[in-house]
Amino acid sequence: MTSTQAEIDQSYSVSNDFFELWLDENMHYTCAVYDLDDPDQTLEQAQENKARFLYELAEMDETKTILDIGCGWGSMIDVATRMGVKRADGITLSTEQVEWCHKRNIDNARFMLKDFYEYEPEEKYDGLVSICMIDHLCSPKQAREKQAVKIYREYFNRAAEWVEPGGAFAFQAILTDKLPRKRGDLEDLAFTADVIFPGGRNPRLEELIMALRPKWEVEQLWMRRMHYRRTTNEWWTRLKANEALIRSKWGDQVYDDYDRYLGTCVKAFDNYWSGLVQMKLRRTTD
Ligand SMILES: C[S@@+](CC[C@H](N)C(=O)[O-])C[C@H]1O[C@@H](n2cnc3c(N)ncnc32)[C@H](O)[C@@H]1O
Repeated sequence: MTSTQAEIDQSYSVSNDFFELWLDENMHYTCAVYDLDDPDQTLEQAQENKARFLYELAEMDETKTILDIGCGWGSMIDVATRMGVKRADGITLSTEQVEWCHKRNIDNARFMLKDFYEYEPEEKYDGLVSICMIDHLCSPKQAREKQAVKIYREYFNRAAEWVEPGGAFAFQAILTDKLPRKRGDLEDLAFTADVIFPGGRNPRLEELIMALRPKWEVEQLWMRRMHYRRTTNEWWTRLKANEALIRSKWGDQVYDDYDRYLGTCVKAFDNYWSGLVQMKLRRTTD
């Protein structure tokens, strides 16, 4: 149904030290929000912008409790607790990530190694955030079998049980858009799906719009393709700057795989093969 625990560990557990070499210092592993007119803006500034933007979309403040579904290394929760929330919970399926989150010792935050499909909150939250976790839920095979909308709807319906009607949900996803024409480009995309993110697949925007109804209403929608192009290009630059260290510590295969994956991402955003959406969703009344 979703990427399994083993598949998630393949995606996120090369080693925390490895990701520290090329992500921003707060370990956001998703698209940043840049001021695209400012060529000097750093990845660190743009990732902070992204988290602050999502904080606003989820209508967080110091009176609110929030859940981050697929919390990664806890970067969104770090920003949210600094800006002010009553309590922030995060769930992830990666063992390395949750260990890292616990070491952060963030006040008012709780991190759990928990599958979204098994999570049962003690009480409802005031708001939700989920950044590029849905990209793990439907495999390419399930999409070919026309299961995608059903699987995404199950995700949105389950999340809807965790807030009261009127609650806000800051949602972000990588999208599938056009298909490349050349065999080599198709192979690069297939490699990224099969080797770097096994079990996952990027949804199409129209599938998300169908799936989030009837439990959620779209209040705002932001397309950020070129922001993710700049983010992945910066990750790629930092990876290449650490080539010798990565090859000696984790081996040639790890370096070559991540070099190919990040290079493919930059091509994919340049050519509209992939996109990025952020949405502000509002829980409808039943
Ligand atoms: C691309 S990472 C994004 C992490 C984080 N949101 C960020 O912005 O850096 C996707 C996250 O979704 C989590 N995830 C995937 N499937 C999950 C599931 N079934 N239950 C809980 N978390 C899941 C992964 O463990 C990972 O933390």
